[in-house]
Amino acid sequence: MAINYRRDHYCGQIRANLAGQRVHLSGWVQRTRDLGGVVFVWLRDREGLVQLVFDEGTCGAECFKLGASLRAEYVVSVVGEVRMRAPEAVNAKMENGDVEVFVEEALLLNKSDTPPIYIDDNANENENVRLKYRYLDLRRPSMQQAIRTRSRVVGVIRRFMENCGFIEVETPILTKSTPEGARDFLVPSRQHPGAFYALPQSPQIYKQLLMLSGFDRYFQIARCFRDEDNRADRQPEFTQCDVEMSFIEPADIQGVIEGAFAQVFREVKGIELPLPLPRMTWTEAMENYGSDKPDTRFGLKLVDVSAAAANCGFGVFEDAVAAGGTVRGINAKGLAAAMSRKELDSLGEYAKTYRARGLAWVVLNEDGTLRSSFNRFLTEELKSALFAALDARPGDALFFVADKKSVVLQSLGELRKEIARRHNLIDCDRFDLFWVVEFPLLEWDEEDGRFVAMHHPFTTVMDEDRELMKTEPGAVRAKAYDLVLNGIEMGSGSIRIHRSDWQEEMFELIGLTPQEARHRFGFLLDAFRYGTPPHGGFAFGIDRLVMMLLNRDSLRDVIAFPKAQGANCLMMDTPADVRDEQLKDLHIKSLAEKGE
Ligand code: AMO
Ligand code: AMP
Repeated sequence: MAINYRRDHYCGQIRANLAGQRVHLSGWVQRTRDLGGVVFVWLRDREGLVQLVFDEGTCGAECFKLGASLRAEYVVSVVGEVRMRAPEAVNAKMENGDVEVFVEEALLLNKSDTPPIYIDDNANENENVRLKYRYLDLRRPSMQQAIRTRSRVVGVIRRFMENCGFIEVETPILTKSTPEGARDFLVPSRQHPGAFYALPQSPQIYKQLLMLSGFDRYFQIARCFRDEDNRADRQPEFTQCDVEMSFIEPADIQGVIEGAFAQVFREVKGIELPLPLPRMTWTEAMENYGSDKPDTRFGLKLVDVSAAAANCGFGVFEDAVAAGGTVRGINAKGLAAAMSRKELDSLGEYAKTYRARGLAWVVLNEDGTLRSSFNRFLTEELKSALFAALDARPGDALFFVADKKSVVLQSLGELRKEIARRHNLIDCDRFDLFWVVEFPLLEWDEEDGRFVAMHHPFTTVMDEDRELMKTEPGAVRAKAYDLVLNGIEMGSGSIRIHRSDWQEEMFELIGLTPQEARHRFGFLLDAFRYGTPPHGGFAFGIDRLVMMLLNRDSLRDVIAFPKAQGANCLMMDTPADVRDEQLKDLHIKSLAEKGE
């Protein structure tokens, strides 16, 4: 037989313009339909499907027999002629459903066991089974699309950064702990008993050192590792586009990053982002949306009603204000009719999962009557004050939380998103991309009773707030900024501290003794003494960006081989135990019971 392994077209490329031509295709069998003297086979490769026709009259007995023996996922190579289908045989659901390939020769390249999952986007397979057989799951068109889009996105970013004069530098994976706030993955050292490398949570310190070395305009498509609880938008290993520049102001780095995003949206989605992107201060974000990464695709803004609540006669409200807390509300416009008692109770339970002690509500029925969880206390005076503050009209539903400020903002911030999700208030075609700027430098850690850096401890303060460092550190704003898309943090960055005395002051503020600071970051403090340029940067998550571009719900859908919920790989069964000798070499003894 003349046929070999080499194909000359992809299945998905077979179109009407090739009618009459002989083509050589190779791929996987999607499905077969045996009509007696004719067997129809859908052949699939990375570019799509095409229908093959094994017609006993055209291809001969042996070839026909082969066609009739094909099963799902067999690998086969065929040579045949592209023909237009008769009008009544056209499959409108198939992109190239007006053509088919009449097979003349065929070669079975490999058989396949019956696959444990359907290679079909419509099949609703259990995710754990998909992850166990990821190599098969990746054959599905939607996974092919995700992985290919990811490749394009990275390509666009690389080209854009290179055109802007950025230099890509690879930094080590075996390194020392960097304070991004998560736990480190550790790698025991064989040559240094009892010592450990840490996998990088980000290339943060290296990129700052590269500024010192004079590599102004650095970038890297960098793999990062963080041992934190896995969520839909978090993976233990993920990829950042990491960037750093010298001699800049925040607007410079923001300009580069939004330029890169604009290019990605243009090339991958055909969408023009309006530049410069909007900016919102951290305070505005928290006050209006109860979140530092607000989803602005819908309203339901938070409104402070503390003034009206202060002496209103409703204990829950009064007490919160008297204790230095706050009362805020949101207006779910036009949703009164949707607010059954069951729905109201369930929203109350939802708010409680974010530490709210309760959810007070007032529903203004269309007919002018009211329902309220605190009817007894709803005096005419309180009513008119609350309604005015929230611009309430018949048909609206109002929700209030009274507590200390952090609880009120978080619970109402989450509630507004939940109401929007449940009642379809979100326009899924919108991409609301904007900067959140002027983050606080520090955050009070209740558990440890000390300040921690809100971004990371290399972030510098806003010039106008430097004086406050000594007197009111909690009020100091940083030159730190996040990029937010539809309520998801895409990336963050800051202008860095470039003087060792400022860096030492920062370490002291977050409770590091000079000895600890020296032990952990001595090399950095030393380095800062040798002419460090003012610098700053940014990093954004490639996985998150691709997830958003493709409107997928989980990072797992845009990573070829992701980790499952428990940070494990179901396909390879990682993490796994190792031989005792390996542990001995590493000077390690496990405390875990075998098989634990
Ligand atoms: P940060 O910690 O905010 O900043 O991380 C930047 C971006 O990386 C992505 N990201 C993640 N993606 C998936 N899974 C995770 N577990 C995960 N963690 C973070 C997010 C996030 O916005 N060195 C600083 C940046 C800088 O200051 O230049 C840093 O890493 O998209
Ligand atoms: P009660 O007076 O306990 O019957 O509460 C009246 C309403 O206030 C109920 O709907 C409670 O859920 C709600 N509520 C209780 N605590 C709070 C709070 N901290 N913030 C808002 N509403 C609350």
